[in-house]
Amino acid sequence: MTTPVLEARDVTMRFGGLTAVRSVDFTVNAGEIVGLIGPNGAGKTTFFNCLTGLYVPTEGTVSYKGTVLPPKPHLVTQAGIARTFQNIRLFSNMTVLENVLVGRHTRTKEGLWSALLRGPGFKKAERASEERAMELLEFIGLAPKRDHLARNLPYGEQRKLEIARALASEPGLLLLDEPTAGMNPQETRATEELVFAIRDKGIAVLLIEHDMRFVFNLSDRVAVLVQGEKLVEGTSEVVQADERVIAAYLGEPFEGDPGEAEAAEVEAAEAAAEAPSTTSSTKGEAK
Ligand SMILES: Nc1ncnc2c1ncn2[C@@H]1O[C@H](COP(=O)(O)OP(=O)(O)O)[C@@H](O)[C@H]1O
Ligand SMILES: [Mg+2]
Repeated sequence: MTTPVLEARDVTMRFGGLTAVRSVDFTVNAGEIVGLIGPNGAGKTTFFNCLTGLYVPTEGTVSYKGTVLPPKPHLVTQAGIARTFQNIRLFSNMTVLENVLVGRHTRTKEGLWSALLRGPGFKKAERASEERAMELLEFIGLAPKRDHLARNLPYGEQRKLEIARALASEPGLLLLDEPTAGMNPQETRATEELVFAIRDKGIAVLLIEHDMRFVFNLSDRVAVLVQGEKLVEGTSEVVQADERVIAAYLGEPFEGDPGEAEAAEVEAAEAAAEAPSTTSSTKGEAK
């Protein structure tokens, strides 16, 4: 249960004078769902990019199942780590099925171009690949839309398709960067079930999320990144109760009784939160 799948040791990422990630140690164990949270600009996506070979960390190493990963995205995928992106990256003019097939290219001998051009080598592997892709589409709930163009899918289904494509590389670890961004509450709940189902298939999951309810419901452990540093790590209960985390999200805690200015600020914030429409308040209570 505590076999490490992913181990990041002392990972630092600098862009010129800016240190986006600072000396982060981080582990994901087999069978775990781990959440990575933190305010905007905390370095979460940069850290993901260091884990997946998109960036070469300025310092530190990333290992997968005990082997240090080369900082090259396709080699990281081949090793067994798959990811989705904060901004959806699909081949919009390809069908749903084709998008998943592209995700399989690291697991077939034929390679990406052969898959895209459907050369003779590809045709041999095609049937097995298609069967596996359809299994994944069944799993994710998009099988009936196999022939739809990706760009014609509603937003929530595009996010699902990205997950199916990531799963097509048969990963041992799946990284999700804000999987529920832009989703309605129903889609978010469905995604929660999906993440549990992925974990139950034996795939460890690391997710970046803004939706706190989502991340605390799902995660066995949560790590909090603030200004590039890991501030706190622990179970959902521990992290939720940590004053430093509350301060990082809400600003410094009040010392003693809130003064008039602070009370007015809170009232104004509450009024602003209620203002947009009645749907936002029903949304908040829906769950
Ligand atoms: N390629 C880059 N070049 C320069 N600065 C970057 C780059 N990527 C991210 N940053 C900076 O690193 C910091 C962390 O960004 P990011 O990792 O996107 O945060 P998060 O995902 O937590 O919102 C930000 O200040 C951002 O502007
Ligand atoms: Mg981000």
